[in-house]
Amino acid sequence: MANVSVNELGFSPKQGVNWSNYLVYRPVYQTSFFKRIFDYHAEKPGATWTVGHDIGAGCGIVSFTLAIHFDSVIISDPNDGYVTLAKKLLIEEASLPESKFTFLQETAEETSVDSGTIDLIAACECIQWTNPKAAISEFSRQLKAGGTLAITYYARPLIDGNERVQNAWKGVWGAHSKKAQGEVFDRAFRTINTALENIEFPEGEWEAIKRVYINARGDVNAFVMNNLVDERKVKEKEEKIWVEDDEEWVGMKDIEWFKAYLATWVPYIPEAEMQDVWDELELALEGKKARIRTPVVMIFATRRA
Ligand SMILES: C[S@@+](CC[C@H](N)C(=O)[O-])C[C@H]1O[C@@H](n2cnc3c(N)ncnc32)[C@H](O)[C@@H]1O
Repeated sequence: MANVSVNELGFSPKQGVNWSNYLVYRPVYQTSFFKRIFDYHAEKPGATWTVGHDIGAGCGIVSFTLAIHFDSVIISDPNDGYVTLAKKLLIEEASLPESKFTFLQETAEETSVDSGTIDLIAACECIQWTNPKAAISEFSRQLKAGGTLAITYYARPLIDGNERVQNAWKGVWGAHSKKAQGEVFDRAFRTINTALENIEFPEGEWEAIKRVYINARGDVNAFVMNNLVDERKVKEKEEKIWVEDDEEWVGMKDIEWFKAYLATWVPYIPEAEMQDVWDELELALEGKKARIRTPVVMIFATRRA
């Protein structure tokens, strides 16, 4: 099922993306997140830091940090206007030098990047919108021998310590995912529901595969959103690491935040169209904040020589 052809792009403007809200309400990638990525790369003897590629870059959130570590950064995203916005934020607003960046309106599956030229690819919060098999093959083509691939995905948060709020929040996502209709969403759910374990790394091209599960309580079901499934492709040799209670992915949130947060996911569904489940969550919260914990998966792989 992972290879169905899908014509629509995910996370597109017509699905209701609002980058201003995204920047405020989505979790901020903090120190431990980037440290895991850069440590994996730095541990390799002879690692180079010449070109980084931020794939599915959106408005360039990850590119900003890649620019600190790499001589130059390619920023790619297929949706109309996103790399233009990234350029505005990075160059006009953050005053980074334009000469450091290349902006490409391209998909993960098909790019104009020269073969064997990239030291590190970061594909953050975007792999679910791709055909993973085609994307992995294209990442393999671009990377230098010994180059690093980092694929990351944070799921919707779970609620700790309050079963009623957790059930009501689950009801909100259940109602939302029923409205996420069509092949592009179905394919995304298959990748998300397997905690990205449907992503396969052909042994002839990849080595040192490491899958890190954060805040999942030792259970990949922490990522499940609905009943769509896909075949798991994790090989025995791959390393699996479980990290619990990473406080960078934890917080206390109230009803207004829950509403604003959900509005950053696609498709955008106005509150009034899911009023019953929102009312249930509001009642369950009793005017208080609840503790959220976000499950995250980070996959690292090295392009074989
Ligand atoms: C949720 S945003 C992630 C933005 C940013 N990387 C982050 O981590 O916050 C998902 C991005 O994936 C992009 N996208 C959708 N289809 C894609 C594809 N086939 N290849 C690469 N990116 C894609 C969307 O345009 C969108 O910018």
